[in-house]
Amino acid sequence: MTTPPVLSGNEIRQKFLTFFAECQHQILPSASLVPEDPTVLLTIAGMLPFKPIFLGQQAPDFPRATTSQKCIRTNDIENVGRTARHHTFFEMLGNFSFGDYFKKQAITWAWELSTQVFGLPENRLIVSVFEEDDEAFALWRDEIGIAPHRIQRMGADDNFWVSGPTGPCGPCSEIYYDFKPELGDAHIDLEDDSRFIEFYNLVFMQYNRDAEGNLSPLQKQNIDTGMGLERMAQILQQVPNNYETDLIFPIIQTAAQLAGIDYAQADEKTKVSLKVIGDHVRSVMHMMADGITASNIGRGYVLRRLIRRVVRHGRLIGIEGEFTLPVLETAMQLAEAVYPNVRQRQTAIQQELQREEQAFLKTLERGEKLLAEVMGQAQGQISGADAFTLYDTYGFPLELTQEIAEEQGLTVDVAGFEAEMKQQQERSKAAHETIDLTVQGSLDKLAEHIHPTTFIGYHQAQSEAQVVGVLVNGKLEDEAEAGTLVQIILDQTPFYAESGGQIGDRGYLSGDNLVIRVEDVKKESGIFVHFGRVERGRVFQGQTVTATIDRACRRRAQANHTATHLLQSALKKVVDDNISQAGSLVDFNRLRFDFNCPRAITSAELQQIEDLINTWIAETHDTQIAVMSIEAAKAKGAIAMFGEKYGAEVRVIDVPGVSMELCGGTHVRNTAEIGLFKIVSEAGISAGVRRIEAVAGPSVLAYLNVREQVVKDLSDRLKAKPEEIPERITALQQELKQNQKELERVKQELALVKSEQLLSQAEALGSFKLLVADLGNVDAESLKTAAERLQQKLGEGAVVLGSVPEADKVSLVAAFSPQLVKEKKLQAGKFIGQIAKLCGGGGGGRPNLAQAGGRNPSQLPEALKVAQQELRQALQ
Ligand code: ALA
Repeated sequence: MTTPPVLSGNEIRQKFLTFFAECQHQILPSASLVPEDPTVLLTIAGMLPFKPIFLGQQAPDFPRATTSQKCIRTNDIENVGRTARHHTFFEMLGNFSFGDYFKKQAITWAWELSTQVFGLPENRLIVSVFEEDDEAFALWRDEIGIAPHRIQRMGADDNFWVSGPTGPCGPCSEIYYDFKPELGDAHIDLEDDSRFIEFYNLVFMQYNRDAEGNLSPLQKQNIDTGMGLERMAQILQQVPNNYETDLIFPIIQTAAQLAGIDYAQADEKTKVSLKVIGDHVRSVMHMMADGITASNIGRGYVLRRLIRRVVRHGRLIGIEGEFTLPVLETAMQLAEAVYPNVRQRQTAIQQELQREEQAFLKTLERGEKLLAEVMGQAQGQISGADAFTLYDTYGFPLELTQEIAEEQGLTVDVAGFEAEMKQQQERSKAAHETIDLTVQGSLDKLAEHIHPTTFIGYHQAQSEAQVVGVLVNGKLEDEAEAGTLVQIILDQTPFYAESGGQIGDRGYLSGDNLVIRVEDVKKESGIFVHFGRVERGRVFQGQTVTATIDRACRRRAQANHTATHLLQSALKKVVDDNISQAGSLVDFNRLRFDFNCPRAITSAELQQIEDLINTWIAETHDTQIAVMSIEAAKAKGAIAMFGEKYGAEVRVIDVPGVSMELCGGTHVRNTAEIGLFKIVSEAGISAGVRRIEAVAGPSVLAYLNVREQVVKDLSDRLKAKPEEIPERITALQQELKQNQKELERVKQELALVKSEQLLSQAEALGSFKLLVADLGNVDAESLKTAAERLQQKLGEGAVVLGSVPEADKVSLVAAFSPQLVKEKKLQAGKFIGQIAKLCGGGGGGRPNLAQAGGRNPSQLPEALKVAQQELRQALQ
């Protein structure tokens, strides 16, 4: 039987795109994983970027296109690693017709590509069509020549494709590869995934589906197709699953190596964990490269969950500490040629991944502590309730609880755990409309009810608005009373929602006897959520309110935001034109700007930067804000942030001749409004990334006031004028040094005086004298001087002194006279080394004089006693 040629993942991608390019398709780059479409969280299919074209809302630039699109689907996340081909991240190869060719051409090309380009033997290919689509059936049979029994008719579940609950859709036809053609045609069951794999879906997109499920014809008949790159790689590379293809396997191998595991020899459970890591790390990398950051909301939560699963599975295969960075590196090596943004955003990705990993490791540690307590009390079994608390409150997965319990010979009541889980699910189902803002996709759900909010805050600080959603604890309510913490959604709002580093506005929503204090505003999927507290009255769905932002806060944020732009320009001018932004934070009181730069900024440069910015401020530049196409903005030289997602239309903030950046934030109208700019600190935050913290506008005064207070306080305490403070401190430091020296000297004197008193305690042993004593808290140096001096005064003999200079430190010294060394063959070094061992230490030195130390002061009396006894014996 012929087998198709082995092709690498990259070759498959290239061959697909080239084939369709030769068929007059425009090759387009993959769109971002963050879709333009506000109704979906992530890009889930190759067609998503073209949705407005299919719907007739946008004219296509080309009648035909072909792409390799990055996709993420998390609906089957639990199956990842367990089946041969479920993924969160995958690449979908697609050819698209926007009202150009249709069924016949799509089918002919799909067959040619599969059999001629990829060389799949015809007898290994089976196709399916939608049960009502006689036209497609006839095309496969008559145009391609497939035997009718190898064309399977399937129901709407399998062969009618819709991009979501609503949207463009149509019947589809799929091509399957048969891994076991030897089983014959008698029992073709396309659901049997050990035998068949669906690798190419042709959607004949010709309807729009509305929320009620009604279909209406689209203006044009379109083609949308999807070929799973990983699936085709599995077929052509003849490996047992998608994970073992060259697109993913190197990542798995890196993880296996870090865990000290040989993949080939590993058990099934370990392989599942390795596959999860292989899959999820790709998702995490691409999501971050497309500018998504981990959070507890929306797509940020998806990202966080994926990272946590990676860390958890690392733990399951025995990796103790951090491990994601080297695994990420392998993923980057595999992706960089096709997706250069992974390297461009490398530092930011690494930093964030590491931060998330460290934080989750801490959570796991806390969970482990609780688990240890639970295990201490458990009799043979950990209860379902305890296991559930660990899972629900501490994010501690059941498998991990089970595994650790097992090590201690305990089991976990899994049925009890599942019962608790079910109860909780029922509780949340019972709440008729729960939209938990911390749960993935929740705002999608909201988006079904509520339209994206209209933002009017660039030009207005106050407006009337309608309450379109009242949420309490993430649950949609009809109303909320005074004292309640609420999240309010309005039809339009002057409140800026946190984004682009600038924090959300503060302010009030007010109406008939109603006051809500707004403490934060965030947005997701175009919906602005006002977080606050009902201070007076009652808020209800449908109510008209007056939304008023806190203008003073907004002014401060604006000053800080425009100043951040000036800072970026100044850094480029003063330090290096290659400096690029790595992150920023603009709040009411300060600004923070992170940037890529391999070295520290000198204080002279910082001064220059500060001066330059203050000059620009004083030059009273008007800011010019305009909306234009991204191409026009780039042509003008506006700075965009790497990896940031920009729509076709962008907002350009221009401080003419000084700075031009793409930005959605709010800004001053004239640089003079900034007033003053002051750098507070500059530091490295990771390899190659520096951070400048600064203040602008009214915050400068607040900052300087604090400083002034410190100076005033110092000046009072030192009884010196501010300008005399440095000199005064130098004098004080010198004085201190002098005093320390003096103290040392006095201590030594004291040790000597103490030791002189001991002279009378010396024992006479034959012609030698012996003195062993504890000098208290004398330091090592003084102890040595004392021993030497005592030995000289005693004449021929031995002196052994001990002391405890610090809480857990013992000092010992032995001084032996020359005659004693000669006659008795005793060595001070060796001797004191032995004695020091008794105090948990060691040491040694010359035959006449040696010092040693130890860590157990409580053993000193015993050690000195031993020293005395031994020397008594030796000297007699
Ligand atoms: N849009 C189709 C799919 O995702 C091709 O399967």
